Amino acid sequence: MDRDLDALAIDPDIERAQTLPGWVYDDPAWFARLVERVFPQTWHLYPLDAMPRAQGEQVPWSLLPGALDEPLLLTHDGAALRCVSNVCTHRGFVMVEQPSSAGGIRCRYHGRRFGLDGTLCSAPGFETSPDFPRDCDHLHAAQLHRWRELTFVNFSGGAAFEAWFRPVAQRLDAVVPQSMSFDPAGSPHYEMNANWALYCDNYLEGFHIPYVHPGLNAALDWSVYRTELFAGGSFQIASAKPDEPAFSLPKSHPDHGLRVAAYYAWLFPCTMINVYPWGMSVNIVLPQGTRRTKVVYRRYVWDASTLERGAGAGLDAVEYEDEAVVEACARGVRSRAYQAGRYAPEHERGVHHFHRILVAASRAPA
Ligand code: FES
Ligand SMILES: [Fe+2]
Repeated sequence: MDRDLDALAIDPDIERAQTLPGWVYDDPAWFARLVERVFPQTWHLYPLDAMPRAQGEQVPWSLLPGALDEPLLLTHDGAALRCVSNVCTHRGFVMVEQPSSAGGIRCRYHGRRFGLDGTLCSAPGFETSPDFPRDCDHLHAAQLHRWRELTFVNFSGGAAFEAWFRPVAQRLDAVVPQSMSFDPAGSPHYEMNANWALYCDNYLEGFHIPYVHPGLNAALDWSVYRTELFAGGSFQIASAKPDEPAFSLPKSHPDHGLRVAAYYAWLFPCTMINVYPWGMSVNIVLPQGTRRTKVVYRRYVWDASTLERGAGAGLDAVEYEDEAVVEACARGVRSRAYQAGRYAPEHERGVHHFHRILVAASRAPA
């Protein structure tokens, strides 16, 4: 069915608004629009362990595999990390297939060489070509930013990193130390039969916690669960029951006085940063077409003494509980009987906000 994608709108008044219609979660044209207009212009987390740390090291990777499949190269030029296209500007050869410490970037097809920042250094066969090199003969450079152990990349513009990330930094800089250990054992990958946006919808409300997560629910003081919105995402702040682990927050912190058990930060579109007294667990959501989603977990620990206690315990079980409900919604929103729902105004502000950001972003020029 041909649908008018530009006609999609979410009422700003949450009490009156209807949710995204069911078809949005299963429409190839809508997904193609996100791939064209939204995902290339938003910030995404680098999902791999391999990290260039010394001059000349380079790691090939794919941005949003399954959706963008954009071949990129993370490099270290001695001073800083950089992210450039891994696609040769001559005939489109993907140049680097394995991590290496080769120094500059060399295309094996016809011998072009590029610097680690993407500058074209030499191009055999083009010595007499007029108007060469043009700007587009250098490698495309993506924007890159680091926060703690996380590396964010934006392929082509959109919001400036500082503005997008500021609300998260303001809240988390004081609770996330500079130094932490990556925990490979706590960093599994998951896959489910559901649209990526359904996974986000579910993440963005604590409304389901008492119904779906009995273990997590037992650790939380449900009476003080908060959701706060900001331009590029939202925070959910969960408070601990009296004997459960909580942050000790300095007087200057906006949440001083609360016994915070967990911060759940979501950044549009695919980044989730969960911070507990023991450390941080990051979910990188990777849309795989309309009906499948991969989630890469990355866990970083700074206080192992509270690991597997409180809100940050048993994350694997919580993930499976979430996947089960998300997959059931994926089947349900395709029903001929389902059109769209309404938002519970007290509990689903995060979901409403996501839908509004998504619809606005989908209208960006292609
Ligand atoms: S494709 Fe790279 S030099 Fe020809
Ligand atoms: Fe959940």
